[in-house]
Amino acid sequence: MIKVDISNVWGQLALPDLLAMEEEVADAHNTLTDGTGAGSDFLGWLNLPVREPSEEVIRIQKAAQKIRKNSDAFVVIGIGGSYLGPRAAIELLQGPNHNIGKGKGNPQIFFAGNGLSTRHWNELTRLLEDKDFSIAIISKSGTTTEPAIATRALRWMLERKYGTDGAKERIFAITDPCKGALRQMATEEGWETFVIPPNVGGRFSVLTAVGLLPLAVAGIDIVQVLNGAADAKEMYDLRAFENPAWQYAAVRNLLYRNGKSLELFESFEPGFKMFGGWWQQLFGESEGKDGKGIFPATAEFTADLHSLGQMIQQGQRNMFETMVRFDAPEQKYTIGSDWKNLDGLNYLEGKTLDFVDEKAFLGTVAAHVDGGVPVIIMDAGELNDRKVGELFYFLELCCGISAYILGVNPFNQPGVELYKRNMFQLLGKPGYEK
Ligand code: PA5
Repeated sequence: MIKVDISNVWGQLALPDLLAMEEEVADAHNTLTDGTGAGSDFLGWLNLPVREPSEEVIRIQKAAQKIRKNSDAFVVIGIGGSYLGPRAAIELLQGPNHNIGKGKGNPQIFFAGNGLSTRHWNELTRLLEDKDFSIAIISKSGTTTEPAIATRALRWMLERKYGTDGAKERIFAITDPCKGALRQMATEEGWETFVIPPNVGGRFSVLTAVGLLPLAVAGIDIVQVLNGAADAKEMYDLRAFENPAWQYAAVRNLLYRNGKSLELFESFEPGFKMFGGWWQQLFGESEGKDGKGIFPATAEFTADLHSLGQMIQQGQRNMFETMVRFDAPEQKYTIGSDWKNLDGLNYLEGKTLDFVDEKAFLGTVAAHVDGGVPVIIMDAGELNDRKVGELFYFLELCCGISAYILGVNPFNQPGVELYKRNMFQLLGKPGYEK
């Protein structure tokens, strides 16, 4: 079970105030699971965790096997909720340098269509040169500009390389079961497709094929991921303050009411950076509306202690932190002795890197709490495929509860739609003229 330690918030909050929220939190949780709140037609994610693989999951595993066998590289096209989840999980489990040394049998994973940078595009096409590759096109609406542009270009690259029939074997579309340009295109072209259920929004879709196909191609056990999510579904259903989801959702709302309008979500693991990005979208798009919301930001420690540390310690007192911790890995690095000791490090001789990391963590928490920054500690335990599934579901649940406490619809994103519409208009897309 993920443990939420709130002992470092009491300088800023009082326990009776938290306990007084019990009914409010219970209502928010019930509203979510009973489907009686705003946006309740987007609650399909609550039931995505399964113990036994569904037909769709078995098909995903088969497609992944084929891609792993015939591809040196796999390009995942998508943006926002159609991209962040798989990248977050792959980098968390395999590290930010996961592509080094990979090839056929265990393909490299690249991401495209998550921006409009020509430099990034040029780099990607260089990386794909002379490689056998396959692509997954992920878009629920099928009309988002960034992935649509990447799709057209990569699809043509595949067709030039393998011919239309050969390319068909290497293109996988993940989209709405009936609607949208991508669904239509996939049907017409005969590509294999997987479904984003209509009642699952982008940022809650990581446990559908959106996350599962890229994860399976990366060699991650997606049944374990789904089982971890199923564990979470059971464990965090508890309707009491012993539920860590309640603690996190309630404390962050109470801090917000006390003027803490920015949350820094962080870890001491470099591989966590994209997971922070996934969390940022989940909470940012779900809560930032109606003039409300905690601004979600992320940081990587200890690196960012040397850039953001000063601001956290002594800047505007409007933030709190959530630090995610994992158990140390089995393989240790022990600091050796140097007879010259010119760097003065011999006092650490025989100590492991984890020992130093632990002290850095404790020192950071103490300093930030002293500086008036409340720190929530989320202890996730051992990091493995199953844990990632648990974390995804746990944080989605926290987000749903938290947004209902805040009094917003967690499942729409009218602001994002506005940007998309403006861009279509500026680009002169037919049907979007002023
Ligand atoms: O969470 C969301 O709904 C958004 O971030 C979408 O996932 C993102 O805009 C991409 O949309 P689509 O999957 O329709 O291309």
